[in-house]
Amino acid sequence: MKLSTLAAVLSPSLLTSLCSALSLSDIKRVTTLPTLTDKFIIEVTDASKIPTKRELSDATAHEKLCAYLEDRGISYDVNKEFDSEIFVGASVTLSSPEDVEAIKANTGIVTIRPVRTYPRPASVKLETLAEGEDADVQTTHILTGVDKLHAQGIYGAGIKIGILDTGIDYTHPALGGGFGEGFKVVGGYDFVGDDYTGSNEPVPDSDPLDQCAGHGTHVAGIIAADPDNPYSISGVAYEASISAYRVFGCSGFVSDDVLVDALIRGFEDGQDILTLSLGGTDGWTEGTTSVLTSRIAQTGKIVTIAAGNDGSSGSWYSSGPGNGIDAISVASLDNTAIILQNATVGGVDRNPITYYSFTPFPVSETLPIYAISNDTTIVDDACNELPDTTPDLTPYLVIVRRGTCTFVTKLANIAAKGGRYAFIYDNGNGFTAIDVGNYNATLIQAADGEFLVNEFASGANITITYPQEGASTNFPDPTGGLISSFTSYGPSNDFYFKPAVAAPGGNILSTLPLNGYGIASGTSMATPFLAGSAALLLSVKGTAPEVALGARSLFQSTAHIVSTSHTDGDPAQTVTQQGAGLVNVFDAIYATTIISPTELILNDTAHLVDTFTITISNTGTESKDYTLSDVPAGTALTVESGTILASLGPVPLSTDYASVAFSEDSFTLGAGESTIVTVTITPPEGVDASVFPVYSGFIQAISGSEIVHATYLGLAASLYDKKVIDDTDYLFGFVIPAIINADGDIQEEPTNYTFVEGDFPSILFRFAFGTPLFNLELVDIDTTLENGSLKRRGVSFVPEAASIAPTSVGSIGSFQYYPRNDENGNAYYLLSLEEPTFVDGTVIPNGAYRVLLSALKVTGDPSNEDDYESWLSDIVGVEVPAES
Ligand SMILES: *[C@@H]1O[C@H](CO)[C@@H](O)[C@H](O)[C@H]1NC(C)=O
Ligand SMILES: *[C@@H]1O[C@H](CO)[C@@H](O)[C@H](O)[C@H]1NC(C)=O
Ligand SMILES: *[C@@H]1O[C@H](CO)[C@@H](O)[C@H](O)[C@H]1NC(C)=O
Ligand SMILES: *[C@@H]1O[C@H](CO)[C@@H](O)[C@H](O)[C@H]1NC(C)=O
Ligand SMILES: *[C@@H]1O[C@H](CO)[C@@H](O)[C@H](O)[C@H]1NC(C)=O
Ligand SMILES: *[C@@H]1O[C@H](CO)[C@@H](O)[C@H](O)[C@H]1NC(C)=O
Ligand SMILES: *[C@@H]1O[C@H](CO)[C@@H](O)[C@H](O)[C@H]1NC(C)=O
Repeated sequence: MKLSTLAAVLSPSLLTSLCSALSLSDIKRVTTLPTLTDKFIIEVTDASKIPTKRELSDATAHEKLCAYLEDRGISYDVNKEFDSEIFVGASVTLSSPEDVEAIKANTGIVTIRPVRTYPRPASVKLETLAEGEDADVQTTHILTGVDKLHAQGIYGAGIKIGILDTGIDYTHPALGGGFGEGFKVVGGYDFVGDDYTGSNEPVPDSDPLDQCAGHGTHVAGIIAADPDNPYSISGVAYEASISAYRVFGCSGFVSDDVLVDALIRGFEDGQDILTLSLGGTDGWTEGTTSVLTSRIAQTGKIVTIAAGNDGSSGSWYSSGPGNGIDAISVASLDNTAIILQNATVGGVDRNPITYYSFTPFPVSETLPIYAISNDTTIVDDACNELPDTTPDLTPYLVIVRRGTCTFVTKLANIAAKGGRYAFIYDNGNGFTAIDVGNYNATLIQAADGEFLVNEFASGANITITYPQEGASTNFPDPTGGLISSFTSYGPSNDFYFKPAVAAPGGNILSTLPLNGYGIASGTSMATPFLAGSAALLLSVKGTAPEVALGARSLFQSTAHIVSTSHTDGDPAQTVTQQGAGLVNVFDAIYATTIISPTELILNDTAHLVDTFTITISNTGTESKDYTLSDVPAGTALTVESGTILASLGPVPLSTDYASVAFSEDSFTLGAGESTIVTVTITPPEGVDASVFPVYSGFIQAISGSEIVHATYLGLAASLYDKKVIDDTDYLFGFVIPAIINADGDIQEEPTNYTFVEGDFPSILFRFAFGTPLFNLELVDIDTTLENGSLKRRGVSFVPEAASIAPTSVGSIGSFQYYPRNDENGNAYYLLSLEEPTFVDGTVIPNGAYRVLLSALKVTGDPSNEDDYESWLSDIVGVEVPAES
């Protein structure tokens, strides 16, 4: 049995980050492009403008769309029609993906976007608790003022919340114990069925019960768990009415077309709030679901969406659909207390020892201890094979110091001597979840380990017992109250303010299927917390569209600034990870000062907006004196110095701050009065633009104990200067982009491919930064590059330099709005050219070509060839044998 599997819960990065570079053998010659599929979502912006040869004056939008496709000879299947005031269109499968080009060629009447899939943010690893554990003190409610609203009897009554997730186990007693009118979970729909994975056919039905996945049940409890339960937890808005829109099966992903369907249903069902604890790396605001969630928000509904759990991947890695411009993207904050277990010490008089596990070690024997070293200063304890003098360790709990080698190495050496159980004591690096592979081991604090070793060395007969009940302890989390390190960093590549605001999401106790309870971490947990907070706001202020439209600003302006550490004087966490700060729902509801706007976006140096007019209003009943001040946040050094690659998280911060000037920095406002102040923000000077520093901070308006703020964000560099194509050997140890040949090796010299029995080329590339548009094409072998850029693109370009060959033979792919790659799950892109055809379906004639990859720089002009970066391959020959 595996006793400790906590790493995924607390720090998703621990499990997913690569310790070393990838190698060639890791690459499967299978196309890995998130959007290369035959499924597309077509949106009909104005059906009356669809030109069809046939006259269809009374036809529906869908009939016109179909007639339009048929008139163009486009062969398609309609998977789903969408017909709502917020979205009219269809999800279609095209029998030839190249028909996209034919549809695109008639833009102005429709948009067409590839269907992509979204995971639920990866960290979610549920630790279930045994019945009868100690009650949680609901620290998350105290952190955010929810406790004070509950004390006033505000529980979100009358507000309708739709949860798009894995469904809900509504049979759970804390979640109402039933489904439909009169129950807590009043409605919903299952769009997919248990077996849906994101790539197969959904099998919908009307029952959104979740008894296999659990994620949605945990999410639902954070919003709506009734307080009378064994753990005394309660949802943020437990009198709200919940609808469960099930978009995930028991495992896997959800694709855009299902999400569009569920979002439209939620909108049409009249939900006041829609919440989505899901998302995937995106970087842009342009995906179908990002656009649609934003559109729903614009109608006066609140849409909360997870910011993503890719903090370890660094900046510019915001998640879709959380990128929806008017949606609220939610960052996570670590809970202040963690539920851990105590072990009892025998043989000496000693307080219990807290060990890092949510659940008791399932060991009922009392174990004597054995210390590998009697000297607690030995740094590489058990990093090497243990000496022959070591006894058989089978009967013992082994005590070993953290450090030098991996935990698993130490535990393997201990296991080689029969050791089955170990306590690893900390060396000062922190008390946290650790990766122990399949071994029965966990971390204890340094002082406890030193005590045990010293007692052992002095010959004391010490034992450890693991009580199986009643030994849970509320341990103060050292990172409690700080932004969870797993929260994805923004901003978006088009410089939108992502994430918007933070809520508790690290170490959250909530409901699980089959009457269970458990702890999970992720922006998935922070998102429903904000949805519940929004329900409290609406239940007090009403559900009029103006209230919902102002909700994000209200949460942002009254949020509390989160620091980078618990050390006084350390800077505030970058806005690119905390957004406008930790939500305080009580302050949001009772604020009597309104500041607007709340997001001051300076953009990059090439598009700098540095002067803002902000309005401060006293909506209270008494006159107030205000002072304005600037609280800078740490400046995020988003690119690693001397490289073109993003700094991994936690992103290094500097204290090179912007400077801020006010037209007026103190004033008095009578009840109901407003004033307008001009704020001029000057980006930090003398900083190294090559590390793409993102500066940020807060403009506070303070009146007595009331503080509201507007939050600013800018880049002290030009995004146009950011290199997009990774042309280094950083990840693989060989320089990319590269062509991978039929043997899976790098093509080092001109090579012919027959396209028979797996003999085809694959194009391997990575992006160091997102790109709004990239193309792959075959070009004449005489084409050359000058300083990495090709002075010629499609036919509309006039060659600028005589040395540049003007011949593109044909496109093999054109892709929009791609995110950069990271070092985890999205490490590279690969396009396998399995058939000798261009993207328009025509056959590539036998002959010799080069592959040209060209990527548009961020903020570049797609029609300007100078705005592309290019890479040109060695000669790739197409030599398809004649049919015999
Ligand atoms: C757990 O151990 C800690 C440290 O000895 C102690 O402060 C705490 O009271 C213990 N809790 C329980 C429930 O035994
Ligand atoms: C972990 O402990 C269980 C019993 O609790 C035991 O069966 C198993 O072999 C142990 N695992 C290892 C790797 O020692
Ligand atoms: C540590 O101390 C114990 C008790 O005095 C002794 O039995 C053991 O041999 C010592 N271990 C080492 C490695 O010296
Ligand atoms: C050590 O303690 C255990 C349990 O308290 C006891 O069974 C054992 O006899 C003791 N051994 C010695 C050498 O005192
Ligand atoms: C930042 O500037 C770019 C280039 O003009 C623009 O495309 C983008 O929309 C701007 N971002 C915001 C949030 O205004
Ligand atoms: C590729 O095929 C062409 C045409 O058959 C031939 O001329 C050329 O030498 C071949 N190149 C290689 C590298 O084999
Ligand atoms: C290419 O780079 C060289 C050396 O930096 C420079 O002298 C030359 O002007 C560049 N050419 C173009 C077309 O930018």
